[in-house]
Amino acid sequence: MSITLLSSPLQGFTDFRFRNAFHQYFGGIDTFYAPYIRLNGKLVIKNNYQRDLDPENNTVPHLIPQVMTNDPDEFLFVIKYIESLGYTELNWNLGCPYPMVTKQGMGSGMICNPSKIDDVLHKAHNESDITISMKMRMGYDDPTEILGVFPILEKYPIKNIAIHARIGKQLYKGGTDLDAFQNCVDQSPHKLYYNGDVTSVQAYRDLQERFPSIDHWMIGRGLIADPFLPQMIRDNTTEYPKDRWQIFKAFHDTIYQQYDEALSGPMPIKMKMLGFWEYFSQSFNDPRKVYKAIKKNGSPRNYRATVNEIFAKQR
Ligand SMILES: Cc1cc2nc3c(=O)[nH]c(=O)nc-3n(C[C@H](O)[C@H](O)[C@H](O)COP(=O)(O)O)c2cc1C
Repeated sequence: MSITLLSSPLQGFTDFRFRNAFHQYFGGIDTFYAPYIRLNGKLVIKNNYQRDLDPENNTVPHLIPQVMTNDPDEFLFVIKYIESLGYTELNWNLGCPYPMVTKQGMGSGMICNPSKIDDVLHKAHNESDITISMKMRMGYDDPTEILGVFPILEKYPIKNIAIHARIGKQLYKGGTDLDAFQNCVDQSPHKLYYNGDVTSVQAYRDLQERFPSIDHWMIGRGLIADPFLPQMIRDNTTEYPKDRWQIFKAFHDTIYQQYDEALSGPMPIKMKMLGFWEYFSQSFNDPRKVYKAIKKNGSPRNYRATVNEIFAKQR
């Protein structure tokens, strides 16, 4: 079966610099989702979202913008904005688990409110002909919440529903609920994409065996922790390329240089790279030691020396 692999968005990580470099060095991903746009009550698109979606800044073959809102006017405003840039699909985030979002009835906090979802989709489909896709958790409090949304989604030509097989109140703790995901497969007439904890080729193989009808797989954290993963899934191999660490280092150096140019002062770049190393370190022999070594660096010069040492040890 031919499969489609999609990069699941991570706000603060998978911006255009990351996506472009990822595609250049590792490949394996068919479609990238941009992290969500959020408007915060004003019909204004912030500069950092504009930069991230500007077609001039993006070299990946297929990019889909995402929005997080519960407001029909905001949704339509974002549709018009991304259409002006030439995009033809908008992904709607009904997955974010964080209380400051869910308490406002957004992200996974909106799944229990099908009529509000209906309002947004009604206006969007009445007043534009953009393609809309969904990214959802299965609920906030309970994984059956999503089942109450399916009849609403059936009214609209939704392209697909990507489901992160957790509920909001779990945040990222605990396992995925594969039985609940199976209920979604059984009950939704829509095209479903699977998302959640695809962290290795073996994990992918197990999931593919359990859900043979799924042919679209979204990978988020696993792709930052092991950027070779998508191509290895595609090639059906557990063998890394011979020049694994040279490629990883070249990728690291590329994003480091770009973030260093974009961020001012030693602290922001340190925090940016430390965020990445929380994931990168999982690819290395002793993840905790690697992360600690990165964390204790004060200056950019020390940081670069430590990175060189860490990669040299892997070869
Ligand atoms: C730091 C962080 C930021 C995230 N930002 C977004 C986002 O902007 N939009 C979104 O749909 N999901 C976001 N997610 C969720 C991921 O895209 C993904 O659905 C989730 O991590 C489960 O997939 P995974 O196990 O493959 O990582 C984020 C997750 C994390 C950890």
